[in-house]
Formats: sequence, structure tokens, C-alpha cells
Amino acid sequence: MANIRVHFETFGCQMNKLDSEAAGEALLRAGFEIADDPDSADVILFNTCSVRQHAEERVYSRIGALKHLKRRRPHLVIGVMGCMAQKDGELVFRRAPLVDIVCGPRHEAGLAGLIAEARSGRRVLALDDGRIVRERTARPARASADLLVVDHAPHPYMERDGRTRPSPFQAFTAIMLGCDNFCSYCVVPYVRGREESRPPEDVAAEVSRLAESGAREITLLGQNVNSYASGLPQLLRRIHDTPGLKRIRFITSHPKDVSDDLLAAMAELPKVCRHLHAPAQSGSTRILHLMNRRYTREDYLDMIDRARRIVPGIEIASDFIVGFPTETEDEFRETADVVRRAEFNQCFIFKYSPRPGTKAADMADDVPDAVKKRRNTELLAVQEEVSVRRNREKQGRVFDVLVEGVSKNDPRKLSGRTGGNDIVVFEGPESLAGRIVSVRITNSTALTLFGEKINDER
Ligand code: SAH
Ligand code: SF4
Ligand code: F3S
Repeated sequence: MANIRVHFETFGCQMNKLDSEAAGEALLRAGFEIADDPDSADVILFNTCSVRQHAEERVYSRIGALKHLKRRRPHLVIGVMGCMAQKDGELVFRRAPLVDIVCGPRHEAGLAGLIAEARSGRRVLALDDGRIVRERTARPARASADLLVVDHAPHPYMERDGRTRPSPFQAFTAIMLGCDNFCSYCVVPYVRGREESRPPEDVAAEVSRLAESGAREITLLGQNVNSYASGLPQLLRRIHDTPGLKRIRFITSHPKDVSDDLLAAMAELPKVCRHLHAPAQSGSTRILHLMNRRYTREDYLDMIDRARRIVPGIEIASDFIVGFPTETEDEFRETADVVRRAEFNQCFIFKYSPRPGTKAADMADDVPDAVKKRRNTELLAVQEEVSVRRNREKQGRVFDVLVEGVSKNDPRKLSGRTGGNDIVVFEGPESLAGRIVSVRITNSTALTLFGEKINDER
């Protein structure tokens, strides 16, 4: 019998991408095949995100679009995994009757068995009720002849060898699962469960395996890597000398936990990229308090000063939410002021989206959408101004660039990133992919640096 072909469609953050990789790896081991396009697949799995309403709507509309395919091929199995599966549970079956499997995070290792059940005609609901707080509008589903219910994940973390990673020389590894911060707007703690740190020896072993298989850059992942149980600076020191490894990154940092010790480790360890993604979310102390972020505007600006003092050349990136309940125009101005002062190299800006079950959802979503849109556009314009100016200042300077491959926008050029996470486009042979080269910056826009390679290194 031919292998069962599985196609993944992944939404959401890096953690979800990593879970899709882990799920793919588990399925390959069980004898499945990965299909690049949905039309030739026997199983289509949507790995979903619940962070904003819009992310959920996109998934439901993608599933709806499979109606014709499923009619033509009634044995096609459609699965919804990840955060929205955990959040909506059995409601997914009602909202999207085409779906056969609903499976929350941390079930990656057992996916082959769940697919086998679905192929034999039963629906599958696999969540995690032990570790994960659930806020549901419906009563929990009961198992029946038509429905298999699995109520806890057998393996909290799947050890990987990284064979399914999209890039041979870049890899991600999760050092923590879940989140305990309960920022008032955020669904993540509800769908990803309590914070758990992986033992440093497990992380170090995985990093070694990934480096052995060709990874030159490792990104350590967690919702708040600064609260890694046995210390992020210690972990960075521990994995630093992994043979073959050239770069170490970590995301995401919670501003309240960016310690001088971490900054000192970044300054001292040459392989650790001088890049910090520390989302501010707002520049208003009152709004930050309502968001349960546990720092003030001044704390945040102080963190930026410390980072720039201790780690010369550091680049800092941030996220902001505009239109949080009760945000006034003056408070929005304070946010714009932080963007002007902090000189980020990159900002991600989101319109507030109420998430059922979170604290903030008890407040009226009282900033009209048109106002959220305008604030979003204005903040983007402020960041663009900063980016254009700062990128212009980088002209003439030389940066180490890890070459990622051919540029998406110009197939005659290569594209890569500086340690600070700036994108650099320059000319050179494709064979440089995976190498670190020195590039002199000659031109720039808000989003991209352009340059010329001055030598091949390492
Ligand atoms: N753990 C990370 C990322 C969380 S989700 C962190 O704490 O930084 C990524 C971003 O989505 C957040 O930084 C925030 O800016 C945004 N976000 C989260 N919940 C949101 C909501 N309800 N509405 C709009 N944006 C949201
Ligand atoms: Fe959400 Fe806050 Fe946790 Fe980030 S730190 S995942 S924003 S609760
Ligand atoms: Fe989305 Fe889940 Fe990541 S809600 S942002 S995919 S942790």
C-alpha cells in the first residue's frame, strides 16, 4: 500500500512552526509521507493560532474552501491542531463539519495513531485537560462509537532530530513550553498551558544533534525565554561551544525579565547574536498596568538604555498592541514616543482583538476599529521613519551576514541576516548559502540593507 500523504498548513508563531516540524518528523518515522500540496494529500492538517480573531477566521475560511476537495475525495482526513484546537475543542466540529481531528498542542508524538483512528471513520478529539486551562462555551464532549476522546497529551515534549526543518543550516529548539504571565489580553497561557522549562541537558543534546546535522544558527524558543528555570545566561554559556554552531538567538524576551546578567552574557559570548526581541506592547504606564505587563514606561526605556550600554551594537525589536480597551489618544502618543526613542530595528504592530476567557475580554472593546486602524498606520509610519534613518546610518559599515539563500524579491541576489537580525541583500553565488560572509552596506530602505560582499569567511 502506498504511504499516507500528509500536508501541513501552519499559522501563528514560531512555536507552531516548530510543532509542525515535530509532528512531521513523528509521521515520517511512522511511515507517512509529507505532501507539499493539499491536492495530492490524504490528510490535511491545519496547525492553528488563536492570538487574534483574524487568525482564527483565516483557518475556518481555508477549511471551508476544502469542501469541493472533500466531496471528490471522501476519505480525505482534515485535522485542526494547535492553539485554536485547544481553545475551541469540540466546537471546531460544529463550526467546521468537514473536520475529522481536533488535536491540541503537545500531541505531536501521538499524531500517527490519531490519524489512523480518523481513517477508520471515527472523529478524534485530543486535548490536554490536565495541564491546560480551558475556557469553553460548550460542555466537554463524551466519547462514543463515533468519537474518540483523548484528554491528556502523552508526551509533553517531543525529542527531535530536526529532519523536517525548512532550512538545513537554521534550526529552532523549544527551551520552554507554555506561559505563566497571563498578560490580560493574551490567550496563550490558556491554550499552551503552564510554563515548563526543559532540562538544560536535553536542550544541549538537541542543539548538538541539530548542529551535527548542519545547523549553523540555533534559535531558542519560548514565550518568555528570560524565565527559563535554570537561567538563560547559563544555558547560553552551556551551548555556546557546541561544535559546528556559529550563531545563537533566542525569542521572546519579556522586558520585566531582561537582567544585566543576560545582557552581560550577550556581550561576552561571540556566538550569541546581539538582538533582543522584547515586546513593549504599549508606551503608557496605565495601559501596561491594565495589560498586566508588570513594568512601567520608564522601566522599559531603562531596559533599552541598559541593553545599549552593556551590549554595544545591539538591535532591539518590539511588538505593540494599539486600541487596547480605554486607550486614549494621549496614551497612544506615549506609545508613539517610545517607538521614536527606542530606535527599534523592527516593530510588529497589532490591533487589539478581544480573546474570550482572558481578563481584558471583560472590559468593553471600546476603541472603534477605525481608530485602531489609524493608530496602527501612524505607528507603522513612525517606525518607518526610524528604520529609514537608522538603515541609512548603516551604509558604509561592514556586517557579518549568515547567507540564507536566494533573495525572494530578486533571484539574481542572495539574502541573509546580520546578527542584529537586519535583512541584507547582495550579489554572490548560491553556494554561499549557510556561510557567514562580510558585507559592506551600500544602500538601504526601511526594511532592507543592500551591500557588496567583501570576502568569504568561515
Ligand atoms: N510570548 C510572546 C508572543 C506572544 S503573541 C511575547 O510575550 O512577546 C505575539 C504578539 O501578539 C504579542 O507580543 C502581542 O503584541 C500580540 N497579541 C497578543 N494577544 C493579542 C490580542 N489579544 N490582540 C492583539 N494582539 C495581540
Ligand atoms: Fe502572552 Fe504575555 Fe505570555 Fe507573551 S508573555 S505569551 S503576551 S501571556
Ligand atoms: Fe498563536 Fe499559539 Fe503561537 S495562539 S501566537 S500559535 S502560541
